[in-house]
Amino acid sequence: MRKNIVAGNWKMNTTVPEGVQLAKDVCAAVAAEANLKCDVIMGVPFTHLMAVKEVIGDANVGLAAQNCADHTSGAYTGEVSAAMVASTGANYVILGHSERRGYYNESYEMLKTKVDLALENGLKVIFCCGESLEERENGSFKDVIGAEIRDSLFHLTAEQMANIVIAYEPIWAIGTGKTATSDQAQEIHAFIRGLLADKYGAQVADDTTILYGGSCKPSNAPELFAKPDIDGGLIGGASLKAADFMGIVTAF
Ligand code: 13P
Repeated sequence: MRKNIVAGNWKMNTTVPEGVQLAKDVCAAVAAEANLKCDVIMGVPFTHLMAVKEVIGDANVGLAAQNCADHTSGAYTGEVSAAMVASTGANYVILGHSERRGYYNESYEMLKTKVDLALENGLKVIFCCGESLEERENGSFKDVIGAEIRDSLFHLTAEQMANIVIAYEPIWAIGTGKTATSDQAQEIHAFIRGLLADKYGAQVADDTTILYGGSCKPSNAPELFAKPDIDGGLIGGASLKAADFMGIVTAF
């Protein structure tokens, strides 16, 4: 059975003290929730990983980095390796976010390498995909999403796929207040699950968690999460306030 997950992506927000306070608030709220129906993950800046890990302690909350390097170690000034991320106690890394693909030119090939390095270092991957507004409007969106997934993930074995979570994030819905309708999101989630089934068989497809991201908030999360192929959310803006984030966590 696949897991439901609600993951926060804090992006480049909060100082370390602010992030520690947010993590404390989220952990306290999660601890107070008697009937949690999903895994909760916080995706924090590199600088925050160790301090947030300390806040999490034994609590039932996962920790994600938002990127890792496409090299193992060495002369790559400013980069942070998957091994470094894992050594902080983080258990996940977000890879392939459209902001990284768009602003930092991350290619399918580079992401393939990052995925391999993350898995080699024992990290689970939250792998993002999604189309631009232009690709949605010209009808090429399924080709784009299919290529993103195939070219960076389909070299993996079925066993390795157990450590991959996919996040569908239509770029036109990120930070815009414009959510994909639950039907639009469900259509793509079912399409992605179909790609997984064709490549790896029904069991892997059925076991893979597929998250929706893009202006997800407490008011629209229940309708999105009620869809059969939407297994939770990757949350940007609404993950920066513990109350909003918990409003999504409790939407299941
Ligand atoms: P928003 O929730 O702010 O639209 O961001 C979504 C996102 O990019 C999560 O990775």
